[in-house]
Amino acid sequence: MKVSIATLAALTALAYSGLALAGAEDIIEKEKCHKCHTATTTKKGPSWASLAEKYKGKADMPPKLIQMLKTGVPLSGKTGEDDQHKKLAGVSDADLKAIVDIVLSSK
Ligand code: HEC
Repeated sequence: MKVSIATLAALTALAYSGLALAGAEDIIEKEKCHKCHTATTTKKGPSWASLAEKYKGKADMPPKLIQMLKTGVPLSGKTGEDDQHKKLAGVSDADLKAIVDIVLSSK
C-alpha cells in the first residue's frame, strides 16, 4: 500500500489530538469528577451540558475555567463535603484545556 506524506501527517495529527483527549478523559476518570458531574445530569455539581449552555459564546470562559480548575474555588458548603472545588494542580495546561473543551462541548 502506498501512503502519501500528507496522509501520514494527517494520521499523526489525529493520533496526537486523540492522545490529548484520552489524557483528559483519564484525568476526569481518575479525579472522580463524575462523582459530582456528568454530561447531562445535575448531581452535586451542575451538569456539564448546563455549563456549556451557560457559557456558550463567552470567549473569556475557557481560560477562566482552566484557572478555576488549577486553583480551586470555594464551594461554601454546597456539596456538604469539600469546601474547595477539586483542584488539578500538576495537570498540564494542554490537558486542562482539553478537559474544559470536554465540559464546554457537552450536550
Ligand atoms: C465534590 C463534588 C465535586 C467534584 C468531585 C467536582 N466538582 Fe466541579 N463543581 C462542583 C460544584 C458544587 C460546582 C458548582 C460551583 C458553584 O456553582 O459555585 C462545580 C462547578 C464546576 C465547574 C463550573 C465552574 C464555574 O465557574 O461555573 C466546572 C468546569 C467543574 N466543576 C469541573 C469539574 C472537574 C473537571 C472536576 C474533576 C477534576 C470536578 N469539577 C469535580 C462539585 C464538584
